[in-house]
Formats: sequence, structure tokens, C-alpha cells
Amino acid sequence: MPMKIKAAVFHGPNQPLTIETLELDDPGPGEVLVKIKATGLCHTDLHIIEGHQPQPVPAVLGHESAGVVVAVGPDVSDLREGDHVVPFLLPECGVCPNCQSGKTNICLKIGERTGTDFSRLSRNGQRIHTFVGMGTFADHMVIAADRVAKVSEHASFEGACYASCGGATGIGSVRRHDVDREALVAVFGLGGVGLNVVQGAALAGAQVIIGVDTNDAKEAVARKLGLTHFINPDKVESVAAEIMAITVMGATHSFECIGAPAVMREAIAATNAFYGRCTIIGVAPSGSELTTPVQQLSMGKTVGGLLMGGVKARSGLPSLVSEYAEGRVNFDDLISHRLKLDEINEGFAMMKQGLSTRTVILFD
Ligand code: APR
Ligand code: ZN
Ligand code: ZN
Repeated sequence: MPMKIKAAVFHGPNQPLTIETLELDDPGPGEVLVKIKATGLCHTDLHIIEGHQPQPVPAVLGHESAGVVVAVGPDVSDLREGDHVVPFLLPECGVCPNCQSGKTNICLKIGERTGTDFSRLSRNGQRIHTFVGMGTFADHMVIAADRVAKVSEHASFEGACYASCGGATGIGSVRRHDVDREALVAVFGLGGVGLNVVQGAALAGAQVIIGVDTNDAKEAVARKLGLTHFINPDKVESVAAEIMAITVMGATHSFECIGAPAVMREAIAATNAFYGRCTIIGVAPSGSELTTPVQQLSMGKTVGGLLMGGVKARSGLPSLVSEYAEGRVNFDDLISHRLKLDEINEGFAMMKQGLSTRTVILFD
């Protein structure tokens, strides 16, 4: 029996999301029904709302969440009603060559039940799309079970939710690239993701952690997490030159957490020419290109992307959520606003204006 749910629906670029009642099918084979308790507003959602990424409409967006399993479909043996869970952007089937190799978190099932056409949602017989087969801006969601991590019941839902995108992406990226006590780290963009790069670098003992952000208000919380230097690009002539002055040879690890090609270019320039690594985390508008002087790469510097911090859904996320539950990772200071679903447009307005770090929508 399909159930009625409440969701925020996206109808097209730069239009407010509208709160609507939709119908949600029962979970099919290999799927679970999750009652969502918390969902975070990530800049990736805002990129879509602003029309920078293609998205069929109408659609339910949202991909950062935590909740409780309320029903499982046939063939689901490792999750049951009552489990506290965190849905993840990527599946982890556990048996494909990529899952078995451990070299990547990109499971080869990435194309299955992870597209905008995977949706168990409808309204008056019309199919409603989702963002990558999720759609967490809703009080319930049906999702493939291989994308759902069972997590500690000691973690708050808002913290577990934040772990699933902002936390995993930021902290995971640092861990994947072996940041150590000698590391000189530069983080471009101190938002919901970048602050977790700062936190991850501090946990790894990095000796220098430089934050770059146009918004001075981000400095205080970043320092609380371990930032050692702050640069506002609007107040200096050259960010790369400032970073060179602090690090002498450039950042050993730089992370772009904005999604702006011009900033990516700057981040590459600020990276150690011989053994530095620049990691592009920010999602640039689709179709945009990056130019950088090729000579800068000839000495050994590497540049590359990373999706979701290299973290795997079912074998990686639960330990991060446990670190949070045990107080070893701090998400609480990063959650600046808690809203109801009806207030979701205000949440995105605050993100646009730089008034929030992470906003979480809480459900009853
Ligand atoms: N130079 C420096 N800082 C900038 C610039 C710029 N040109 N433009 C934006 N910023 C800062 C903002 O002031 C803000 O603090 O970048 C930060 C972005 O933070 P959020 O809006 O919280 O975005 P977040 O959710 O962290 O996502 C960042 O990662 O996963 C991707 O799609 C996501 O591309 C996005 C990026
Ligand atoms: Zn996200
Ligand atoms: Zn796999």
C-alpha cells in the first residue's frame, strides 16, 4: 500500500521548494523504507536549485540524512525495522571488483537505483523524480539497501546525518590522502565541507592549517576546529603568494571545497610543486572547465578529484558516526541552524548569504 508523505518539491531553477503531499510506494526487493529524522542542507542542493546542475523536475532533492528503518523489502537480510541508519550517496555492494579492491569507494553498482529516474514517489499518478535516487527533503524515503549504513544508536540523528555528506567528504578526503604531522594544509572554502577538512587535518596533527574564505565570519568556528591561519582573498593581492609565505614551498595538501574553477586554479598554484597534492572536492557548474599552467605540474605535483571523501557506505560510514557519538569528532559546533521542513527555503537563503555553517531540518 503506497503511503502519503510530506516532501519539499523542486519545480525548476530559482523557484522556491514547495511543501506537498506525495505518494511513496512500498519498498521493493533489495530496498528499505526509512523514516527520516534529520536532513542537512548541502551546497550541492543549492547548485541544483540555482540551475547549475541538470535535474529533471518535479523532484525531491536532498542527500544528507539519518533516520530509522520502518520496513524492508524482500531480499533484505542485514537491515531490520528499528535500525538507526544513514543513507549514502554511493552504494557498496561488497562483491564487485571495486568494492573488493579497497582502492576506491565507487562501487560498480553506481548506475543501479542511483539515478534521478529511480523513484518510488508519485503525485496523482505522475512520477516525481529524485536527486540520485534519494530525496531526503521528505519525512520518508525508499532507497536501495546497499546504500544504507546501520549506525550507532548513541549518535544524535542530526550528527549522524551530517556525517553522511559534509563529514564524510571533508574528513574522508584528509584521511584518504595521508595528511600527517608534517602536513601543511590549505583549505579553500570554510563551509559545511571545508570545515570538516580543517577538523580532519587537525585530528591528523597537521602542523599548519590555512583556511581561505571570502566570509570573515567563518574564521572563528574554523579556529575552534584547529585552523592556524585565515586568509580572506578579498583582502590580499594573491592568495597563492600568502600561502607560499606561510609554507615556504606551498601546501603539501590543498583542498578546494567551493566548486569554483578560478579558486581551483589558485589552489593548484598554492600547492607544493614537488610532492603536493591538490584535491578538488567542490562541484563546479556542469560543463565548466579548468585551466592551469601545465608547467606547474611537471615537477611532481598532483591534482585530482575525490567523491564523498573516498568513504564507503556500509564499511566506512558507521565508524565515522561512532567517532562522533564518542565525542572524538565534532559535528555539533558546525550545525548552526535547526529548522522544520516548512522553513527549508529560509535555510537555503541563509546558505546563499553565508549566514549558516550547516543547517539541519529536523522531523518529529
Ligand atoms: N573564495 C573563497 N571562499 C569562497 C568563495 C571564493 N571565491 N566563494 C565561496 N566561498 C566560501 C563561502 O563563503 C562558504 O564559506 O565557500 C564556502 C562554501 O560553503 P557552503 O556554502 O557551506 O558549501 P558546502 O556545503 O561546504 O559545499 C562546498 O563542496 O560538495 C561540494 O557541491 C558542494 O561545491 C560545493 C562544495
Ligand atoms: Zn552534499
Ligand atoms: Zn560494489
